[in-house]
Amino acid sequence: MKDELKKKISSAKDALRIELNALDNKEDILKSKTFKTLFDEIKNIPLDQRSLFGKALNDLKAQILEEVDQFKDTNLNDHKDIDVSADLDINQPHDSLIKLEAGVGSAHPVMSEMDNILNIFKSMGFNAIESYEIDDDYHMFESLNFPLDHPARDDFDTFVLSSLDQSKRPLVAAAQTSTMQNRVIKKNADDLVKNNKPIAYVIPGRVFRKEDLDARHEHTFYQIEGIYISKKVTVANLIDTLRQFMSAYFNKEVELKTQPFYFPFTEPSFEFAVSCPFCAKGGCNICSYSSWIELLGCGMIHPNVLKMASLDPMEYTGFAFGIGFMRMIMIKYNIEDIRHFFSGKLDFLRQFN
Ligand code: DAH
Repeated sequence: MKDELKKKISSAKDALRIELNALDNKEDILKSKTFKTLFDEIKNIPLDQRSLFGKALNDLKAQILEEVDQFKDTNLNDHKDIDVSADLDINQPHDSLIKLEAGVGSAHPVMSEMDNILNIFKSMGFNAIESYEIDDDYHMFESLNFPLDHPARDDFDTFVLSSLDQSKRPLVAAAQTSTMQNRVIKKNADDLVKNNKPIAYVIPGRVFRKEDLDARHEHTFYQIEGIYISKKVTVANLIDTLRQFMSAYFNKEVELKTQPFYFPFTEPSFEFAVSCPFCAKGGCNICSYSSWIELLGCGMIHPNVLKMASLDPMEYTGFAFGIGFMRMIMIKYNIEDIRHFFSGKLDFLRQFN
């Protein structure tokens, strides 16, 4: 077919498509003037070209009718309930849609420092077990010598759940890792009594308290509990163990202060504080203007706690401690606000890569 005829067909096709788009009733395209003009033209086409032109016209008509059908299909789809799940492939890799820049991450400083601390205790002969985040009233309080309605329960600002434990008291979001003392002692008591093997455990875990938040207080933080029980264990053993641990962690001798304190589960009880590295004894908001930062509570395990875990306090003695080790990380790296840790701020976290 001659080029000029081909051109005619192709420009008619463009015109028909534009008309088709504009039509409400798509089938009206068959009544279009463009078609009529083309068909009227047939008689003027030279004989040797006529059949080719006629065929091309029929093809064009068939093609336009196909497009009319496609419009019908899409209209039907418009009225169907749209099944999004069929179109959305949630398993498709994100980066096939959006190319996000991916950097190499690193362990969170709390986790890497916890590993560090556990390794130091391991080198000193301690085993490790993780604490529970949800616990019952017995392990949070009673087994630690806080009888029901003991006023010291209030000091722990404990979050409670609406679910009840076996004794019909609310389950708690553990406010201390000491919750594990009774379990660990019970589990290892036999080995101590029969084989004379001291109970030496550290217990890291996440704890929760209803705190007023400030540079030193978070509602969610980490502690590491320590327990050592054998025969003839004394306060001197406790202080020396903690001093050794602190020197290993800070890689230097730090100035430490022991002061008497009260915990129901230790007798005597102490608090261990370290000199504030932020204000060089001038006092600042980090140390509450006292020049000391309280790092841990400790003491000699109360006879009632040993008895409740089925050990004879006349024969066995031991010490325990609980370290809020996020404070230790703050001191080591000069971090002025505990809230940075869980702020999710990359600028903060990347410093520990
Ligand atoms: N559980 C205490 C707290 O969270 C810390 C503590 C004090 C742990 C004395 C102990 C201990 O094991 O003996 O404040």
